[in-house]
Formats: sequence, C-alpha cells, structure tokens
Amino acid sequence: MELSDHTKNILGLKLPTDPRWVDLAGISLEAILTDHAYCEQKAALTCISLIQRFSDKDELVKQLAPIVTEEWGHFRLVLQELTRRNLKLGTQRKDVYVNRLMEFQQKGGHEEGWFLDRLLMMALIEARSCERFKRLSEGLEDAYLRNFYRRFMESEAGHYTLFIELSEHYIDKETVRKRWQEWLAYEAGIMQEIEIRGDRIH
Ligand SMILES: [Fe+2]
Ligand SMILES: [Fe+2]
Repeated sequence: MELSDHTKNILGLKLPTDPRWVDLAGISLEAILTDHAYCEQKAALTCISLIQRFSDKDELVKQLAPIVTEEWGHFRLVLQELTRRNLKLGTQRKDVYVNRLMEFQQKGGHEEGWFLDRLLMMALIEARSCERFKRLSEGLEDAYLRNFYRRFMESEAGHYTLFIELSEHYIDKETVRKRWQEWLAYEAGIMQEIEIRGDRIH
C-alpha cells in the first residue's frame, strides 16, 4: 500500500524512536492491544473535553465531533480483536509519557498559549501513535495484525495533521511552528528519560 502524504509528513518529523516499542517480541499481544485500547479511549475523551472547553470555537467543534466517533470506533475494533483472540482487556497503566507531556503545557493566565498547547500536545500524541502503529505494522509476526495496524497508522496520521491545521486556523502559523519545535525538543527529552528509566510496555 502506498503511504499517504500525511504519513510521509509524519515520517518527516524525525521523531526519536520510542523505546517502549523497540522490542516487540518481548511484549505480549494482550499488553499491546490493552495499551492500544486505552489510547483510543483517551483520544476520544480528550476530543470530547476539548469540545466542552472550547464550545465557542465552531471550527474546532465541527472538526472534532467526527473524530470522537472515529476514535471510539477504533476502541471498539481493538476490543473486538481482543475478544476474537480470547484475550482480556487489562487494566490501564500509568501513562508516564502523557503525564510528562502535560507538565509542559502553559498554565493559567495565558488563554491562547494554553489552547495552542492542548492542540499541539494532541498532535504529538497522534504522531507518536502513528509511529507506533507503523512499527507494529512492520514488526509483528501475524500478517492479519500487520494489516490491522497499517490501517490505524493511516488514520492517526490524518489526526496529527488535523490538530496542526486546527492550530493554524486559530493562531498565526509562525507562533504555531515555533511552539511546535519547542514541543518536539521537549518530547525528545522525555523519550530519553523513558529509555533510561526503562518504562516499557510489558
Ligand atoms: Fe485512533
Ligand atoms: Fe487519533
């Protein structure tokens, strides 16, 4: 399958490799699918909370409403896959990565900065999901699952660009780009921390 332009954009990001997903053979399928299921759930929830928080922003509401449905559909697909394989949806793990990202968000007083950070953090999480799914689509033994993850990869790449475009709809491009570079640099630091601490998925 040809990679979409969106996906090529993601690859052009040159994100440092996520150490949590390097050793695929060492992670159980149940853990991969459980972790994935909660990521989809959180994506849907975050879109709902953005709509609630920024209900006055018509374009945001219009763009994110269908994403909620899509992410919830992803959650259901993963759940279906667990059931099909007689695997269980495990418990939600503490997400060090997302918690560390949240610390970087501008707080209080600066409404525009806070808004931009919420969107860019989501863009980063989507880009990272896309990278993870690419790795799974290339590295898993099971051909069916490789295809399963290829489809997710395309979809999350589309979400990544949507969050960037939404940012640029409300805030000038130069500000968005500058802050995006700061996010990328900060995220690279988190990746190093995770690697050193060994916060892997098991
Ligand atoms: Fe998704
Ligand atoms: Fe997504």
